[in-house]
Amino acid sequence: MIKNIFILSLILSLLSCSILLPIKVGDADDLVIKATPERLERGEYLVEHVAGCMDCHSQRDWSRYAGPVIEETRGAGGEAFTEEMGVPGTIYTPNITPAALKSWTDGEIVRAITSGVSRDGTPLFPIMPYPNYSHMSQEDIYSIVAYLRTLDPIENEIPKRKLNFPVSLIVRTIPREADFGVLPYATDSIAYGKYMITAAGCADCHTQIDGKGKPLEGMDYAGGFTMGLPSGGNVSSSNITPHETGIKTWTREGFIARFKALNNEATKNIPLQEDQINTIMPWLYYASMKTEDLGAIYDYLRSIPAVDNTVIKYPEQ
Ligand code: HEC
Ligand code: HEC
Repeated sequence: MIKNIFILSLILSLLSCSILLPIKVGDADDLVIKATPERLERGEYLVEHVAGCMDCHSQRDWSRYAGPVIEETRGAGGEAFTEEMGVPGTIYTPNITPAALKSWTDGEIVRAITSGVSRDGTPLFPIMPYPNYSHMSQEDIYSIVAYLRTLDPIENEIPKRKLNFPVSLIVRTIPREADFGVLPYATDSIAYGKYMITAAGCADCHTQIDGKGKPLEGMDYAGGFTMGLPSGGNVSSSNITPHETGIKTWTREGFIARFKALNNEATKNIPLQEDQINTIMPWLYYASMKTEDLGAIYDYLRSIPAVDNTVIKYPEQ
């Protein structure tokens, strides 16, 4: 009985939280983004090759190496993040083609991408990397929105997400007003690399998190984050700090070449061998990143603290 009253009062106090936990993001800006050729070009580059949008917001063929995008689903969403993958619930990527976003204003799309609030006010779970995008330049975000409007419209109804309690409440505390940054000059290679690595979300997989989703202190880019694969098995992210257990011995050319090796049509179609465990590292997606951008990412990674962390790529579990 006492236990029941305790649970009831806990639930009541958490429910009142949702009234006491107003989302800290205001109305979307009233703006119209002009689709200039420069913006469309930059937006295509960021959406298709850097910021991961198409990797998450399309369905993937996990029977092939690194899960190439299934073309007919480009941008139409439907990939599921599940409890087996370590998510507190089941979350589907929404459709972000014009079929779904046509009734959204440009300001509403900017707000969703940078502050994590959907059109109807729903707070987005930060698998959608809005905390990263909120530090990009406003111009880069406008370019992304301009480009999204040009995608082929694909009709695709996406199931509603299911978040477990209490994350279903806590999620309300995560959205923040955007804190736009400035795109550094490419000549300032380390600052520029930091901007690109943030936009590309490399830390989201290469830094381990605690039970509350907070990155482990002192473990930036040290890898060891184990993820379940949709095709079965587990894979751990590599240590990409400049330590012996990381990429200390990698040259700049070798680093770039590792990505570029997959930048052709043939490599988008390598069937997995029997018993081969796939990788979740978006090799195919980043393969077409500009050489100078990959080089700057390498320069940035060489500038961060070296962390001793030996990672077993395919842990038994
Ligand atoms: C790591 C995977 C991932 C990446 C990368 C990603 N998204 Fe998302 N995105 C999601 C998920 C999952 C949601 C839904 C979250 C939820 O429902 O709580 C979402 C939600 C959204 C929404 C809100 C849609 C709606 O109907 O509420 C927009 C718009 C969006 N993403 C655009 C983008 C753009 C543009 C990019 C690239 C700049 C991007 N996303 C990159 C996973 C991702
Ligand atoms: C969705 C998760 C994910 C994202 C995002 C991601 N990685 Fe990875 N990465 C992995 C996993 C898992 C591995 C280990 C498996 C493999 O080698 O394919 C890996 C491997 C690597 C390796 C190979 C290291 C080695 O020792 O063989 C490098 C280099 C690397 N990632 C760099 C990056 C960079 C740079 C970015 C951002 C541009 C990035 N990764 C983004 C998951 C990710």
